[in-house]
Amino acid sequence: MSRPIQIAPSVLPADFARLGEEVAALEAAGVDLIQWDVMDGYFVPNLTFGPDIIAAARRHCTVPFEAHLMVVNPDALAARYVDAGCSRLIVHAEACTHLHRTLANIADLGATAAVALNPATPASAIAHVLNLVDLVLVMTVNPGFGGQAYIASMEAKIAEVRSMIDTAGLGESVDLEVDGGIGPDTIAGATAAGANVLIAGSALYRDPDGLEHAVADLRARATAARA
Ligand code: DX5
Repeated sequence: MSRPIQIAPSVLPADFARLGEEVAALEAAGVDLIQWDVMDGYFVPNLTFGPDIIAAARRHCTVPFEAHLMVVNPDALAARYVDAGCSRLIVHAEACTHLHRTLANIADLGATAAVALNPATPASAIAHVLNLVDLVLVMTVNPGFGGQAYIASMEAKIAEVRSMIDTAGLGESVDLEVDGGIGPDTIAGATAAGANVLIAGSALYRDPDGLEHAVADLRARATAARA
């Protein structure tokens, strides 16, 4: 497991009336990338960011954007989110009838492809597409909302996916991301299990010492968990 630790925010808790300032503040706070939780109201019972909102925010910072597409038809939307400035698209295995083709199509759009697994979906669902992704996202909550409790039993799946990545000889090129309930009390377990990209929303915004402290604290805790 040699991929670097990356701390990335979900912007769900941000002030949507000031997204340009919010992404600039996240970059200033030292995040490695920004994740946009795209929700269509069908795959998950919530509705969030269209591509035009992300394109507007793109002009206010330089860190990479990734779109976590919690949508029933990612093939229909992928090009729009690439054009909006997302360099990585994360699709859910559960939403893709032809996951292998969807991931290949994302690469054809010039973005990097990634796949996400809901808590109930086994790691085996991605066994035959690891060569098509640069990241696997193991959800540690059921998607749809921020502020949910971390599902600690997912650590076994994190470890399983880490083993699959390393056994496939992809440990130098494929990241393992976790998303949901990541904070000071949970980041060590997720990292020790094999995650290296940690998505946090609530934990960043509720830190009384501010975003920069929150990012640095999570990074330190994740790094210590690897030692
Ligand atoms: C769920 C969302 C959340 C969000 C992180 O669909 O993907 O997991 O990114 O929210 P927190 O960090 O508040 O659990």
